[in-house]
Amino acid sequence: MTQLANDDAVEALHVVDLDAFGSCGVVAVHSTALGPAAGGCRLWHYGDEQDMVTDAVRLARGMSYKNALAGLPFGGGKAVLQRPAGAHDRAALFRAFGLAMEGLAGAYVTAEDVGTTVADMQVVRGQTRYVAGLNHAGAGAGGDPSPWTAAGVFKAMCAAAETIGLPLKGARVAIQGAGNVGGHLARLLAERGAELVVADVDEARAHALARELGATQVGADEVLAVDADVLAPCALGAVLDDVTVPRLKVRLVCGAANNQLAEDRHGDMLRAQGILYAPDYVVNAGGIINVCAEYLGESTRQVEDRVARIAVRLRDILRLANERDMASNRVADDLAREKIAAASGAAAA
Ligand code: NAI
Repeated sequence: MTQLANDDAVEALHVVDLDAFGSCGVVAVHSTALGPAAGGCRLWHYGDEQDMVTDAVRLARGMSYKNALAGLPFGGGKAVLQRPAGAHDRAALFRAFGLAMEGLAGAYVTAEDVGTTVADMQVVRGQTRYVAGLNHAGAGAGGDPSPWTAAGVFKAMCAAAETIGLPLKGARVAIQGAGNVGGHLARLLAERGAELVVADVDEARAHALARELGATQVGADEVLAVDADVLAPCALGAVLDDVTVPRLKVRLVCGAANNQLAEDRHGDMLRAQGILYAPDYVVNAGGIINVCAEYLGESTRQVEDRVARIAVRLRDILRLANERDMASNRVADDLAREKIAAASGAAAA
């Protein structure tokens, strides 16, 4: 494990030596002001090492902001590993990763993310206790975080829709991504009586969900321009950009995907177009709330309470955005930075 850098962007950037697997990895620790850095481990194909480091740093900062606003006693970090090109021993790779996490002595707590699974984290657990998102055992918090993420997004969507006088019963909601979170969210919305439009690049997946819920299926290339009341991005990041934002025909954007805005200024564009944006890391915190509760040995009840507060926090942010005449994503970033700075100040004093 080598310390690469220590600048304004992150507290530390650690290299994970995976040469033996034809791979490499980094752990970006953005902030430990509020507690150990918590965030998932992503296994993904990156064009080059710089892309991988850039993604790790961006994701780690997002985790700092998400954890701070969710009121969790954790800072933000992220592990990003290059997916080996050829055949490899996956268990051995995650054992090596786990050993490297043990070397960080708890400064970073890992969990699953895009490309990694509960089974991978069980392997990591064999090497270190600084991991969560494991098989659910007993009555405590833990297990699959997706239902909690969906529950938080749903509550947030109800709150945001209320602020624009939009009842979700009968509202038309377009969901991009019929995966774990998108699927759970669709079921909650169907129960509420929303009219659903679903899309996924995996058309069979979207078809199955549409059939289950009596939803309309549209193409993955159409969903961002569907005429609807709400858009819920639940696939990948950076979907709101110079091309897609002008084409939106919704009043509210509220979904689970991380980093939905290609750049911060796309939040300004949404505001200028009269579209309410529920900042992604505020509304999708249910999963990390569950993961952190598992790590701390907390109860499901504590997870429920924290997830319920997501809607309250979102209402405050939307109110402040109106008062300050600012985009909601910028207000959320400011509040998160203030919390982290206050904790850094308190630690230094
Ligand atoms: P998933 O992998 O189960 O589902 C994502 C779905 O999006 C897949 O079915 C995939 O085929 C589809 N997809 C990919 N690109 C697409 C495109 N261009 N158009 C339409 N569909 C597309 O992932 P999961 O767990 O449901 O997560 C969804 C998003 O929410 C991700 O961005 C993830 O980072 C974020 N998130 C997930 C959390 C969780 O608890 N699972 C927690 C916080 C954020």
